Formats: sequence, structure tokens, C-alpha cells
Amino acid sequence: MARRRLSRRQREVRRNRIILACVASLILILIIIIISVSVKSCSRSGKSDNNKETGAISEDNSDIQADSNNTVNDDSADTTAASSTAVSDNSPYPAPQLPSGNIVSKGTTSKGFSIQEIDGATYIDGHLIANKTYALPSGFIPTNPDQPVNNADRSSTCLDKTLMSAWNSMLKDASANGLNIYIASGYRSYNYQVNVYNRYVKSDGASVADTYSSRPGYSEHQTGLCFDLNSIEDSFQYTDEGKWVNDNCYKYGFCIRFPKNKDAYTGYKYESWHLRYVGVDLATKLYNNGDWLSLEEYFGISSQYPD
Ligand code: DAL
Ligand code: ZN
Repeated sequence: MARRRLSRRQREVRRNRIILACVASLILILIIIIISVSVKSCSRSGKSDNNKETGAISEDNSDIQADSNNTVNDDSADTTAASSTAVSDNSPYPAPQLPSGNIVSKGTTSKGFSIQEIDGATYIDGHLIANKTYALPSGFIPTNPDQPVNNADRSSTCLDKTLMSAWNSMLKDASANGLNIYIASGYRSYNYQVNVYNRYVKSDGASVADTYSSRPGYSEHQTGLCFDLNSIEDSFQYTDEGKWVNDNCYKYGFCIRFPKNKDAYTGYKYESWHLRYVGVDLATKLYNNGDWLSLEEYFGISSQYPD
């Protein structure tokens, strides 16, 4: 009797254990189902975010396509892939900041770079351009100056903030190499350029002056993104300073804006002293292992006065 009661209890215990095991298994299965469903839904939402981004990019591209009638110099087959508006440059001397303002798409260059206008100034692939084709508004002043412009007619302190940081490094390294470089001419206002240009026209005539001096509104000096070093004499290229600058300025984000034998592209004679700040990424491409490219040929744009 006692043995039979004991074994019935054992059977009860076994039954309870089986029920418990079943319930536990059910709970485990439920947990697994819940986890797998939530993982799937997370991965689906990630994919839809990516799709949104892709959509945004192709929308931008379709804007550019729609404006492609404005393409400049549509004569070049060797295209360079265009990048979007923002210039990405993680170097210590990055491309200058784009100003805030309403961006108007103006199509692409012959090499596929975006042309955009912000407050009447032209940006190619996010780089401000002032040349014989692309004028600046007469009231344009540097958009991110190291020191406030304050109606200055000319100044080497209200140059672009990012430029100044790169310049200070270059100056330090040049000095460490026993070289004496200095800014002879930095920012020049529209009105100041009126006097500069007219003076040259008076001495050499307009057609000769146009080969080395910009008409007001067309000078890069109005951007605050460039400067002339030391001396505006051809001999500067042969000095130790001129040679060092030519070979090293790109490391600090500067380019020789009017390189030797590039008059047909830039519209100006060689200026070994005139440096333009573009950031290390672009400057390195323009340096081209010592065979400087002009911004015009790199971007596929012209530099010609309308008249
Ligand atoms: N010398 C350059 C071209 C200027 O006048 O801006
Ligand atoms: Zn200059």
C-alpha cells in the first residue's frame, strides 16, 4: 500500500515536471519568435532609411540633369566624376566653408562638376570661382573672414579663417627652412580693384592689362581666398622662396592659381606669387606631381570676358 502511494506521488511529480517542461518550452519558443520578429523589423527600417538617402542623391542628380543645358565647355570627353555640393576634406587644411544662403543649381561643367550660385557668386564643386567668366557681385566680401572686413579696401587679416590657419603653418615651416615669405597683397575690395586695374590700363593699355590684372568684380582677391606673396616680379619663381612655395604650398591647401603656360585656360600670365587656398585634397590634385593644373582645366570651365 505504502509502495503504491509512493509511486503514485512519483507519477504526479513526473507529470508536473512534464507540464512544467512544456510550459517552459512554450515560453522559450515565444521569446525566440518575439526576438526574431523584432530583429527583422529593425533591419527593414534600416533598409528603408538607406533607400531614403539614395532617393535624395538621385533627386539631386536629376536637378543637375535638368539643368544640363547650362553645361559649360561641352567639348571634353575625359570627364572627372562630379561630387555633390559639399566639399569633404578631412585634412588639417580643409576646403573653405561654403557660406549659408540659397543655393541655385546651374548645371554641370564639361567635366561633370556641379555649378551653383549662392548670393550671386559661383561655386564649382563647392569652390568659389572668380575668373573672367564668373564675376563676383560688386558688394561681395569674404564670407568667413579671420577678422571682420569692416569696409576695408585691402587687408591681409580679413582673409578666410581656414586659409589663415593654413598660412600660419606654411609661414612657420618656411621660416624653419630659413625662408622669408610674407603676404604682400591679400583681400582687395571691388572699389580697390577699380583703381588697381585702371592704373594698369593707363600704363599698358586695356588688352595688355587684361593679361595680368583683373577687371573689378573678376578678381580673386575680392574673395579673401588668395594672396600675393613677396614680389609680383617674374624673378620670384627663381628665388629660394618662390621654389619652395611652388613645391610645397599644396601640402597646406594652396595652389598656384595662374600656373606657367596655362594662359589659355586661366586667361592670365603665369603668377608664381599668387596663391589660392582650396584645401589639401584639391590642391594635391592641382599640384599634379609638380606639373600644376589650373582650376579651369581641372574643373572644365572657361575664363573669358563676355565682351
Ligand atoms: N593678378 C590677378 C589676375 C588679379 O588681378 O586678380
Ligand atoms: Zn594676386
